[in-house]
Amino acid sequence: KQAAKTDSAKALKVGTDPTFAPFEFVDDKNNTTGFDIDLMKAIADDMGYTVQYENSAFDGLVTSLQAGNYDAVIAAMTITPDRQASVDFSEKYLMAEQFIAVKKGSPIKTAADLKGKKVGVQSGTTGQTVAEAMGITPMKYDAIPDAMNDLLNGGVDAVVADSPVVLYFIKQNPNFNIQYVNGDFSKEYYGIAVKKGNNELKDKINASLKKLQDSGKYNDIYKKWFNV
Ligand code: ARG
Repeated sequence: KQAAKTDSAKALKVGTDPTFAPFEFVDDKNNTTGFDIDLMKAIADDMGYTVQYENSAFDGLVTSLQAGNYDAVIAAMTITPDRQASVDFSEKYLMAEQFIAVKKGSPIKTAADLKGKKVGVQSGTTGQTVAEAMGITPMKYDAIPDAMNDLLNGGVDAVVADSPVVLYFIKQNPNFNIQYVNGDFSKEYYGIAVKKGNNELKDKINASLKKLQDSGKYNDIYKKWFNV
């Protein structure tokens, strides 16, 4: 007779940096939550896995994945050629771009106005890359909330970060008098990263992601976090 399937509680070790609401963050009940967390759970459920998170600073995630510390990384991570040299990515699951958060009344109205200004970014992100590509030496923070804090108290003039994160921050903190500038930077696509050559896991993730997109479950998660 058939043995019971006792291996269904296999855990997937997933690296993330939960400082990036609404994608991954720690809520006031100390739970790690967000769009990516729900998406990863739905993917893992479909694959018959549980998820076990390992937290790291964002700029250490790719190296730790390469070192074999996790099976996968979900961290609103943009698929870039640089990163693709070190790790492999699933199919893209979300589009974003870089927005510029400024105080209301700021003279910064376009990306070009950032020149000569103090600009905050999260270390190792595409926000850092676009600032540096403009010849700016940004102030690097471990996490966007720290950069936003410095924007509020005048330590920086602007923060460059992913559009959904800037919009969410503004929406959550209407009394902070922050607004955004769309810098017209290029579109970015998020992917789930796996160790280079781990096609088996990548293919499984892609198959589950496709199922969730086809069934409408992806859309439900999207609506939950971006209420459209
Ligand atoms: N999308 C940007 C990048 O890939 C920022 C991601 C930051 N993610 C995070 N969990 N802190 O560089």
